[in-house]
This record gives sequence, structure tokens and C-alpha cells, in this order.
Amino acid sequence: MTKRPEEIALMAESGKLLASVFAYLDTLTLFGMSTMQVNDLVDAFIVHQLEARPASKGQYGYAYALNASRNSVVCHGVPSPDEILQNGDIVNFDITLEKNGFIADSSKTYLVGEVSPSARKLVQVTYEAMWKGIRAVRPGARLGDIGHAIEHHARRSGYSVVRQYCGHGIGREMHEPPQVLHWGRPHTGLALREGMVFTIEPMLNQGRHAVRTEDDGWTVVTEDGKLSAQFEHTVAVTRDGVRVLTLRPEEKQGAR
Ligand code: CO
Ligand code: CO
Repeated sequence: MTKRPEEIALMAESGKLLASVFAYLDTLTLFGMSTMQVNDLVDAFIVHQLEARPASKGQYGYAYALNASRNSVVCHGVPSPDEILQNGDIVNFDITLEKNGFIADSSKTYLVGEVSPSARKLVQVTYEAMWKGIRAVRPGARLGDIGHAIEHHARRSGYSVVRQYCGHGIGREMHEPPQVLHWGRPHTGLALREGMVFTIEPMLNQGRHAVRTEDDGWTVVTEDGKLSAQFEHTVAVTRDGVRVLTLRPEEKQGAR
């Protein structure tokens, strides 16, 4: 379950490229675009600018470079030419990228135009919760410490944490052991060791944590129709802490 330094160096290269995809996304005016247009731009950027591969294409029969999960969609939203991003939307783009055989996985929730204070707060707290989880990572810490840090932060603001989906080990495969739950009890679960690489990707709901999958077999929505937000990074356990392999330019200082 651990990776050698040279493997982590390659994963960091994939992670850096993926961070540049989000820097590119940041330059788009999402308002008025369809989620399929965003998908097509991201696909072309990964293939032509980065000479890399959108890892989600062909995985589990999925055909697109990203998942677009808007408002009450929790995760696995499928891009569509008919889904136009509207003023006030929140939308998560979840992207995986493979280069030199290694995959990085990251997501970010964007605010489209003028977003309500309550939606804005959900997005902010979700981002903070991800970082609470990341900061719990160090050799000797346990997976339950990560989950607890995330859930504690979510609950303080009255939000719930989605339980059906979790972070995951990652490397040559998109999904490797271990499963990284976003809730849990401190000092429980697998002990972290230097060289482990996995994602932390909490989904926080404004209302209850229950979710259901729509008839397309992909799109996961909140049962109560309230908003959901998500952020994701790929991280490596280092000798004395954590390294975020998908760290974005704007996060290099201060944001944590
Ligand atoms: Co992802
Ligand atoms: Co993931």
C-alpha cells in the first residue's frame, strides 16, 4: 500500500499537471456555459496542452473527462449540453489525469455568478473540512483521525457528511486501497505510513446526509434536494507529515 519515492515523484508530476487544469478552469467564465462545453475544453486541454490522458474516460464505462455535480448533485454528475450553468449555481468539477502511468485525482466546487450567502458558506466550510482532514495526515496517525477532523468541522456548521462515498488510495489505478472515510472516531482505523498515497474528498450536505442515485446510474443527488459541495486533493504521507500532490497555485501559501 506504500509507494517508493520515485513513484511518488511521478505522481507529483501528474498532480502538478492536474493543478494546472484547475488553473485553466479558473480562467473560464462558467456562467452560460454547458457542463459539456466545460468537459470538452478540459478534455482538449489535458490531451493537447498537457499531453496526458483524462483517466476517467473509459473507466467503468464512463465517457467523459470530468464529473460535473451541480447544486443538489453530490457527485458523479454527467456533463450535458443541456445543462447550462446559471447565476447562483455551485458546481463541482472532479477530474482525474494520468501521465507516465500514474493517476492524480482532484476536485473543486466553483461559484457561478452571484451565489447566495448560505451556498457560499457551504462551499467554504467544505473546503476547510478537506484541509482539516489533510492536516491530520502524518505517519502514525490513523484513518479515523482524518474522518473525525472532517466530520467535526462539518457538524460545527450544521452540515452533514455523505457516508456512501469516500476517499481512496490511488496510483497506477484510480481506486486502490485503502478507503478513506470522511467520518470516524479518533485513534481508530489503519495507521498511516510514509509512502501511502490517497485522496481526501469530503462531500458536505446542507441538509441530511442521505443520497440516492438517479436513473442514469451515475448522478448522485441529495435525498432532500438541498445543496451539496465537495473538494478533493491527492496527498502523500511523508516522513514527517503530508504532501499535497495536487496543490493548486492559489493554495501554495495561506489557504490552509
Ligand atoms: Co475525484
Ligand atoms: Co477520488
